[in-house]
Amino acid sequence: MIAVENLVKEFRVPERKEGLAGSLRTLLTRRYHTVRAVDGISFEIPAGSRTAYLGANGAGKSTTVKMLTGVMTPTSGHCLVNGLEPHRNRRRTARRIGVVFGQRSQLWWDLSVPDSFRILRRVYDIPDAVYQRNLRLFQELLDIDALGTTAVRQLSLGQRMRAEIAASLLHDPEVLFWDEPTIGLDMVLQEAVRELVNRVNRELGTTVLLTSHDLADITSICDTALVVDHGRVVYQGRIDQLLSTAGQRSVIFEYRGGPSPEAVAAKVEHTLPGTRVSLDGQRVRIDHPVGLFSSREVLSFLLERVDLTDCYVPEPDLGTVLKELYTRSGKRDHVPGGAA
Ligand SMILES: Nc1ncnc2c1ncn2[C@@H]1O[C@H](COP(=O)(O)OP(=O)(O)OP(=O)(O)O)[C@@H](O)[C@H]1O
Ligand SMILES: [Mg+2]
Repeated sequence: MIAVENLVKEFRVPERKEGLAGSLRTLLTRRYHTVRAVDGISFEIPAGSRTAYLGANGAGKSTTVKMLTGVMTPTSGHCLVNGLEPHRNRRRTARRIGVVFGQRSQLWWDLSVPDSFRILRRVYDIPDAVYQRNLRLFQELLDIDALGTTAVRQLSLGQRMRAEIAASLLHDPEVLFWDEPTIGLDMVLQEAVRELVNRVNRELGTTVLLTSHDLADITSICDTALVVDHGRVVYQGRIDQLLSTAGQRSVIFEYRGGPSPEAVAAKVEHTLPGTRVSLDGQRVRIDHPVGLFSSREVLSFLLERVDLTDCYVPEPDLGTVLKELYTRSGKRDHVPGGAA
């Protein structure tokens, strides 16, 4: 359904000097350097799947989505969506995909939502039954009628996002590209949007590629993750397997009697080097790298020394695993012209 091979996008950006004199020099000399926002990405996404496209700020996610939706032309490499190269077949691609860019509106600023929908209905040639069914769905989950006939430019961010999401689904697209679709939505609407996308995926087999920094979006919509870092794929696979790659585990416990928590902490850090101990009242938390000690070793160390009253080993959470992945390559972000 989506096939990407060795996809590259480079930007030529002017080299900027600091300060006013620097700005003038920038204008006059016009020296450029190249930024590789997407650096040879390959992946395949099967029809009907729900994939989270993840990465730190500036990792290259939106740039990839722009190429997959035909908004941008790749510098090199290929991408196929429904068998078509998006940038060469923009109109045909547009009829079969639904797009939300949370950071940029896809709607007409001066029109109301109902007017925009009527235009989209004509543009996409949406059959009456499909159009009416979808309007009912949007009313049920997004309360779309409440947006009234206000021009899109006058809607609040959350109101506009409801309209953007509805517009992306209006024509029963085969693939959804949603780039930060829940920006500005309150908790109730975030839930509704998750239910909406899960429902169309289940009932129509819609393929979903979702970019979000919201962990609840990711885990409640997607089962597969594609993680990029500095324009390269660093993980592709199931989210539950991604969790098992956590480099760090924790043991959290309470105990009664002596020694003092500070003394326990010092002993743990001394005897099990590489662990980090934090204290929260009577609770003690030991973080340990997976490769050095198992949770079992940490536990048996504790059992010998303190009178445990409570103890648990939390499952690694997605946020921790992603933070590890994003920081593994050193610098988190890369901004053209920023300090290299
Ligand atoms: N039009 C452009 N001209 C120059 N550089 C650009 C352009 N668009 C993106 N970039 C650069 O390409 C890199 C990737 O940007 P992109 O928007 O794809 O990141 P992202 O993964 O979507 O990040 P975020 O999570 O912040 O949305 C960044 O360093 C960005 O500054
Ligand atoms: Mg982005």
